[in-house]
Amino acid sequence: MERTFVMVKPDGVRNGLIGDIVSRFEKKGFTLRGIKLMHIDRPLAERHYGEHREKPFFGELVDYLTSGEVCAMVWEGKHAVANARSLIGKTNPVEAVPGTIRGDFAMDVASNVVHGSDSPENAEREISLFFGDSAAAVYLFTSPPLTHSPNVTPH
Ligand code: GTP
Ligand code: MG
Repeated sequence: MERTFVMVKPDGVRNGLIGDIVSRFEKKGFTLRGIKLMHIDRPLAERHYGEHREKPFFGELVDYLTSGEVCAMVWEGKHAVANARSLIGKTNPVEAVPGTIRGDFAMDVASNVVHGSDSPENAEREISLFFGDSAAAVYLFTSPPLTHSPNVTPH
């Protein structure tokens, strides 16, 4: 079964969109195979978007991706790459139709909420880059540590 790499970008995490995005993939019929909240450093961002290295916006793209935590995910399903990209919508939110993730949640190409691999080959490359050999695992982000839950009375 095909897999794809999807990442909620820092603006998506900041705006509380992880749940909605995960939900859309689940409802579409994808199976979640890996997920982790992480902070990307510049070398990883540069490798991930290596094909855009010569573009005028490359520096801005790397600044954006490293500006906060991202949620990296592996989703599996039939035609996973193409189905994910149709859920995500066009690169420029101005052109992304309502009903797609970028059409519903983004305004500007420089902060378009989510990434999806553009080919099965790139999907496997990106999964290796972000998950190494552990793509089947579910990761929990534990830093900073949770000290207490405000809604639970200790006993
Ligand atoms: P990804 O799923 O993030 O790879 O987007 P995409 O495949 O729809 O588009 P592409 O790979 O061509 O571009 C990668 C990312 O570069 C886009 O998602 C945008 O975040 C960013 N980007 C593209 N064009 C511009 C631009 O003109 N200015 C800026 N600042 N960022 C851009
Ligand atoms: Mg792309």
